[in-house]
Amino acid sequence: MQIRSRKVNVHVVLNYSAMGLLVVYIFIHALLGIIDQLTRATTHLKKLPQIGCNGREEFCNRKYSNITHIATHNAPFVGVLPMDNNNVDIPTQLDAGIRFLQAQTHRNTFGKLSLCHTNCLMKDAGLVTDYLKVIKEWLDKNPQEVVTILLTNGDRLDIAEFDKAFNKSGIIPYTYIARGDPNKWTLDSWPTLGQLMANNTRLIAFLDTGAEQTKVPYIHNEFSYFWETPFEPLNDPSFSSCAIDRPVGLAKFPERARQRMYIVNHFLDTKIGGIQVPNRRDAARPNSWGGTSGIGTHAQRCIGMHGHAPGAVLVNYFDKGEVFKAQDRLNGF
Ligand SMILES: *[C@@H]1O[C@H](CO)[C@@H](O)[C@H](O)[C@H]1NC(C)=O
Ligand SMILES: *[C@@H]1O[C@H](CO)[C@@H](O)[C@H](O)[C@H]1NC(C)=O
Ligand SMILES: *[C@@H]1O[C@H](CO)[C@@H](O)[C@H](O)[C@H]1NC(C)=O
Repeated sequence: MQIRSRKVNVHVVLNYSAMGLLVVYIFIHALLGIIDQLTRATTHLKKLPQIGCNGREEFCNRKYSNITHIATHNAPFVGVLPMDNNNVDIPTQLDAGIRFLQAQTHRNTFGKLSLCHTNCLMKDAGLVTDYLKVIKEWLDKNPQEVVTILLTNGDRLDIAEFDKAFNKSGIIPYTYIARGDPNKWTLDSWPTLGQLMANNTRLIAFLDTGAEQTKVPYIHNEFSYFWETPFEPLNDPSFSSCAIDRPVGLAKFPERARQRMYIVNHFLDTKIGGIQVPNRRDAARPNSWGGTSGIGTHAQRCIGMHGHAPGAVLVNYFDKGEVFKAQDRLNGF
């Protein structure tokens, strides 16, 4: 009995110290987040002049597939907590020049399609419908801009649930539909930004799992049009790999891969008390152009391997570093 209770005590002590560590970590992380928020006024985030074509006249005549967009990873997870990947909200991201938003979806405890981080107890950033409404309102106010959204379907929900959320938000009239067999779709099949603007179909939507374009044609299957580099936020700060990681098996068909855009996963996590969280402290390093972790270094490696630039580079805390400089350079400016 004695030994047993001592054992229990040791466990309790260990648990308390692990919890203490976590609390301290969350506190430090939140403090860094608050400092980020307080210094916002002095950072380079500014509203872009609305010249149309996503900020570059040249893009009006460039195909969608020939433009590199910096994309915000977990765009709606905004705040100072460890599970937040962004410092500023969606309208501010768009105003600053972000035109590609990635977000996770899960079903919340009330059964609603929500923006949750891994699960809805950890972080619930609200309903997908409300997220789409915010983007729709931004498109209303900015009639010459083209926005891409990529949703993940963590709970493998039916496409009808996504259709419902899109419908309720009122965003469907803005959606572009890639008409034609996805298997025969090539980089050349994409319209220019000017054509998208002319038709006022300025929202391009992708879903990673569960898209059914015959039923809901405006929600495109991400992996029919893109592939992704490995997702190694923890282990590889030099982002050494540009391999075709997803969809599984595509790497064996390089001629098919060449007809798709690709997404470069370019963000770092850190681990504390066994929990993986975005690396806020070091965000400027991967978001710089050069250096071993830089966007340019990573993307140039991928261009060398695959012959064309990525369609999107996914980052955390885009307000740190020089992501728009990287976007310009990758687009040839
Ligand atoms: C939304 O759903 C309603 C009811 O099914 C339908 O009548 C309406 O046309 C839909 N709206 C859009 C934009 O798809
Ligand atoms: C624009 O709309 C017209 C008429 O519906 C259609 O034929 C054309 O393919 C559309 N263009 C694009 C880029 O979607
Ligand atoms: C766009 O086309 C140019 C010229 O072919 C190429 O160098 C560049 O990598 C392309 N960008 C993308 C995103 O495909």
